[in-house]
Amino acid sequence: MGQAGSIRTSLCDSTGQNKDQILQHLKNPTPMLDDLAKTLITEDQIKTRVKELAAEISAHYGQEEVTVISIINGAILFTADLVRNMPGPVRIDCIRVSSYEDASSPVGAPRITSTLSLDLDGRHVLLVDDIFDTGKTITKVVKYVENMHPASLRTCVLLEKKARREVAFSVDWVGFQIPDEFVIGYGLDYAQRYRNLRCIGILKPELQPT
Ligand code: IMP
Ligand code: MG
Repeated sequence: MGQAGSIRTSLCDSTGQNKDQILQHLKNPTPMLDDLAKTLITEDQIKTRVKELAAEISAHYGQEEVTVISIINGAILFTADLVRNMPGPVRIDCIRVSSYEDASSPVGAPRITSTLSLDLDGRHVLLVDDIFDTGKTITKVVKYVENMHPASLRTCVLLEKKARREVAFSVDWVGFQIPDEFVIGYGLDYAQRYRNLRCIGILKPELQPT
């Protein structure tokens, strides 16, 4: 194998970073955690609940193929972990919906900014989102998918904030009920950051928009 494929083991040859920077990082490998006022749901709690949800969903569909639609970017991590715990046949597609821009509450009606590539006609569809907040995003996508004539359409969200509901709609599978707080981590962002946190937490008030 040539140079490009070989595994680099030195502390400073792969990215050009020096040893001090790398050692500094090893001392505090998760600096984003310092931005949290508190952790709401731990990594272990997420893992356990995602497995439970996947088991319930798999039991519902049996050997039927499911087309899982992830509402990105927020649901990327949740969807990836959910489908890896579903042993049955699965197809995956993504839909991009935007309403937040860089704010911590919606700045307008949700808009579908990038659509699906799979045909959903006659398919069992499972729509996956990170959080059911006002409900506008998921109901927008539900209407969109219904027009594609799926055989069935179910919904799954990791989090639900009941306090802010603005639409009459009930999600089929919910991971956790959470209080009316702006949360980040495990896919959820503030201004596109913190999605890679392994837990879900509340951002320090001084870091939230005024
Ligand atoms: P809804 O349309 O109000 O239900 O909001 C759903 C979308 O808003 C989610 O898919 C998230 O992307 C985003 N969202 C809602 N609440 C939060 C939050 O607390 N943190 C981060 N994103 C959120
Ligand atoms: Mg989202």
